[in-house]
Amino acid sequence: MQKLQIPFHRPYITQDEKDEVLDSLNSGWLTMGPKTIEFEKRFREYVFAGSAKAANSQFAVSFNSATAALHLALKAVGIKFGDEIILPTNTFVATAEVVTYFGAMPVLCDIEEETHNIDASKIESLITKKTKAIIPVHFGGQPCDMDEICTLAKRYKLNIIEDAAHALPSRYKGRTIGTIGDVTCFSFYATKTLATGEGGMATSSSKEFAENMKRNRLHGISRDAWNRYTVKGSWYYEVVDNGYKYNTTDINSALGVAQLRKIDWMLEKRQHVAHAYDTAFKGTAVNTPLIRNDRETSWHLYVINVNNRDELSERLKEDGIGTSVHFIPVHKHPYYRDTYRYCGDDFPVANRVFERSLSLPIYPGLTDEELSYVINAVKKYAK
Ligand SMILES: Cc1ncc(COP(=O)(O)O)c(C=O)c1O
Repeated sequence: MQKLQIPFHRPYITQDEKDEVLDSLNSGWLTMGPKTIEFEKRFREYVFAGSAKAANSQFAVSFNSATAALHLALKAVGIKFGDEIILPTNTFVATAEVVTYFGAMPVLCDIEEETHNIDASKIESLITKKTKAIIPVHFGGQPCDMDEICTLAKRYKLNIIEDAAHALPSRYKGRTIGTIGDVTCFSFYATKTLATGEGGMATSSSKEFAENMKRNRLHGISRDAWNRYTVKGSWYYEVVDNGYKYNTTDINSALGVAQLRKIDWMLEKRQHVAHAYDTAFKGTAVNTPLIRNDRETSWHLYVINVNNRDELSERLKEDGIGTSVHFIPVHKHPYYRDTYRYCGDDFPVANRVFERSLSLPIYPGLTDEELSYVINAVKKYAK
């Protein structure tokens, strides 16, 4: 059989993306401006379509990353030094890192074996007087147990900041992710389901939180100052908060506008890949992802569990197939382990999952020939 080269991820870029970017370049406006406003509007309409929320409580605020969005979401809900925030250990470090920006404590929670999501049944025992928020991470695109998490948040008066870096588009009991928590943060990093290179978006139903994030993504300036260099704009502004430089650019937003147009089509392509993997691995040594009946995943990741993860990933690499591991649990990273004195024994499920999981290629441009090649190789080497 001919050897193929199949990267773990390949962005799906067409003439449409190139035309949108050219449009921005030709417009003479490169940084945050009209294209970003259009992207925010279309994103808001997409996420809130079908939502019962009133039109005047639907907001989307763009950023240069999901990390920036998470940071300013926590700032918007008032996180302060010494607060505690509960999040799963099975996440990218950004979810924990933003908590440390405040001198707050990332309180790690173990995960569920079946979904690799935060184990909602273990959250309550971690709540103290200092707990202020929960950050559920919709791992791989599958929504967390939002009913249970919302009930706890209500009982203990906690904010919910959703890390939806993987969850565009995903649904929980018919509700689109982005419409449930206080603030939901999406990522448009190069490998994500909507990719702009770097970028992020926060959605919220709170005008207060949205305005706070808008202000603080641009130096804490009092009003829309992005257009202060246009003929219509004004040079005058006031700084009313200790803000950051977290805005995106029109070039990135141009990619976002084009990608959002095909977001449902790209999902169908990933569903096709996931279905092919599910079918092919039935009855083999490969454990396939379990998606609960009441939720729909974006299929950002397709994570299998095997007994020989390291060997399998090496063999696949030799055959030209890129894979990845999501994630090295936060409590295993030296900085977090040593600074917060996490005890590995507190996270038995995350430790077990970490030893066995491997993410396979899943993206719209994966051809059927490539898909069969990956399937055959995985079946050959998995134990
Ligand atoms: C779960 C999770 N949260 C947050 C992030 C951070 O996203 P960004 O790179 O857009 O800052 C990532 C990125 O990979 C992620 O996987």
